[in-house]
Amino acid sequence: MPTELTEERIREITGQFADAARRALAAGFEVVEVHGAHGYLIGEFLSPHSNRRTDAYGGSFENRTRFALEVVDAVRAVWPEDLPVFFRVSATDWLEEGGWTADETVRFAALLREHGVDLLDVSSGGNGGPARIPVGPGYQVPFAARVKAETGLPVAAVGLITESAQAEKIVANGEADAVLLGRELLRDASWPRRAARELGAETHAPSQYAWAI
Ligand SMILES: Cc1cc2nc3c(=O)[nH]c(=O)nc-3n(C[C@H](O)[C@H](O)[C@H](O)COP(=O)(O)O)c2cc1C
Repeated sequence: MPTELTEERIREITGQFADAARRALAAGFEVVEVHGAHGYLIGEFLSPHSNRRTDAYGGSFENRTRFALEVVDAVRAVWPEDLPVFFRVSATDWLEEGGWTADETVRFAALLREHGVDLLDVSSGGNGGPARIPVGPGYQVPFAARVKAETGLPVAAVGLITESAQAEKIVANGEADAVLLGRELLRDASWPRRAARELGAETHAPSQYAWAI
């Protein structure tokens, strides 16, 4: 069984997130994303399914979101104002009871916005329990669309987005501001270029590629 973090250790880990952001900046990255989804540490704090603490970091919504917001503040403090901070959330644990819910995600998104998050990357699941997930094309898009509609926070949609027309429709319909791809990009690393071609968009290749396209 995992053991409960002391408040001192929570402060240390919060500082380590800021250190990681500093290193990412030094390495030349222009976007940093705080991972609060999929049952990783921040997500474990968010969800009542995994967070059984009885101190200031557990119980109420305010308490369960405290660690996430402290990490966001620490990262935002070291990350330049003109560069974006993303946050990845599991919109729902997909549990019938006792889990993190889409309603909480919307409430949380509004707080993230106040704390300087520029975009919410809306995934779902991964926090254990008897989750029943209706996996299918674009199955997480409605969660992203809801956050965008109800909070105005820019969102990215992810999960079984594989076709150029499907991706285009999600953005064109205003359901999300961006789409993110995982497995399809592992299968076809040239997917963005192929999609751009299929959608009739101009592509720009490094000059070394020019005679290949
Ligand atoms: C091999 C593999 C490893 C992954 N590892 C992570 C991870 O470390 N962190 C994360 O947020 N998501 C991870 N994911 C999930 C993807 O980021 C993405 O959200 C998910 O695969 C759904 O999108 P897709 O249908 O486009 O693949 C992983 C997915 C795959 C296939």
